[in-house]
Amino acid sequence: MTATPAKTDITTPEHIRLLVDSFYGKVRVDPLLGGIFNGVIQDRWPQHLAKMYTFWGTVLIGEQSYQGAPFRPHKELPVDQLHFDRWLLLFHATVKEHFDGPVAQLALTNAERMAAMFMERIAFFREHPQRYVQ
Ligand code: HEM
Ligand code: HEM
Repeated sequence: MTATPAKTDITTPEHIRLLVDSFYGKVRVDPLLGGIFNGVIQDRWPQHLAKMYTFWGTVLIGEQSYQGAPFRPHKELPVDQLHFDRWLLLFHATVKEHFDGPVAQLALTNAERMAAMFMERIAFFREHPQRYVQ
């Protein structure tokens, strides 16, 4: 009998790449989300993935490599709670598939907070279009 090796926590840039690549691999073929992502990103997937390495590297392993305004590209997307639920389902599945530990847990809670915050701001700007600055 061979013991199943314990899953690692998220601690290195290679782990971040594995997380991001596996997650967007699922997203791109998802019936609900795939079309939305591919419609905006088109042939810029390498750039999007590179940016997401910096985002999660900054949030999870202290890289400070991400510079950006995370909400901006989401504010006019045709998405609702249903889409964020699917996004979170795929993200949870990806994290659980590869990792285990406190940083993996931090990834899950941060994703949930970010999704809730995005959904709230999207709903707000839909109700108050006059508050759009740009
Ligand atoms: C109540 C929840 C949150 C609010 C109101 C908030 C708000 C903001 C704002 C206003 C910015 C400046 C750029 C922009 O307008 O998009 C920003 C940047 C950023 N946020 Fe958040 N955020 C929240 C939660 C989170 C969470 C949960 C994460 C981690 C997943 C996160 C990660 C970041 C990062 C990495 C940046 C850019 C880098 C930096 O300036 O440090 N935020 N956030
Ligand atoms: C229904 C859910 C979501 C959809 C459809 C979505 C879609 C997108 C799209 C189309 C882009 C722009 C790509 C580009 O033009 O280069 C983007 C960027 C991004 N997304 Fe999402 N997203 C979702 C949820 C989330 C969540 C929950 C997070 C955070 C945990 C997140 C983090 C980011 C970040 C950091 C960027 C890069 C922003 C920048 O340009 O600096 N997204 N997303």
